[in-house]
Amino acid sequence: MKLLHLDASVLGENSVSRQLTAAVVARFQAQADDVQVTYRDLDANPLPHLRSGSLAQLDAAEATEAEKVMEEFLAADVLVIGAPMYNFTIPSTLKAWIDRVAVAGRTFKYTEAGAVGLAGGKRVIVVSSRGGIYTDSPADFQEPLLRQLFAFMGINEIEYVRAEGIAFSPKHREDAIAAALASLPDAELAAA
Ligand SMILES: Cc1cc2nc3c(=O)[nH]c(=O)nc-3n(C[C@H](O)[C@H](O)[C@H](O)COP(=O)(O)O)c2cc1C
Repeated sequence: MKLLHLDASVLGENSVSRQLTAAVVARFQAQADDVQVTYRDLDANPLPHLRSGSLAQLDAAEATEAEKVMEEFLAADVLVIGAPMYNFTIPSTLKAWIDRVAVAGRTFKYTEAGAVGLAGGKRVIVVSSRGGIYTDSPADFQEPLLRQLFAFMGINEIEYVRAEGIAFSPKHREDAIAAALASLPDAELAAA
């Protein structure tokens, strides 16, 4: 299985999402044979913003990197994405990655009947860490955004590992991390 692991937190060793994505990946490696992990740290190595020059492929190194990002995404069977909530949405570094994979003709296309996703058949596990509590809140522009983006590319189900209320108190943080660690997804999907 090819597993693409993305982290975007700016909080380094203090990051909740980094701790939890690492735990998901470790669980997959413990439970399944032949887990081939590709890792991208979008904070340490951010992708450039998508600009007019990107579309025109003015910078050869940027175009090569963008194609590598696309191929990693297309090849992945499983994505494990650290998606902290920053300013009510996802980190801009993660958005920069999405701008490289949501590409017409590669991961979606428009038809007379509307948009069709082309990147189905992958598992997407999103680690959602947030200072407040936003389950079912209209102020959540993080999880619904990811749900919409992946659905647009043909991936209709996202599995969330959620740690909320991190900023409320040290106890909230500890409890939220423990609850998330107790509910990690398995490498093998349960039969429907
Ligand atoms: C730049 C920044 C912006 C944040 N914005 C929000 C926010 O809008 N809402 C919220 O509930 N928490 C917010 N937080 C708190 C984070 O969601 C929380 O610390 C979470 O643990 C971040 O995940 P991480 O530890 O993996 O970085 C913000 C934190 C940072 C560093």
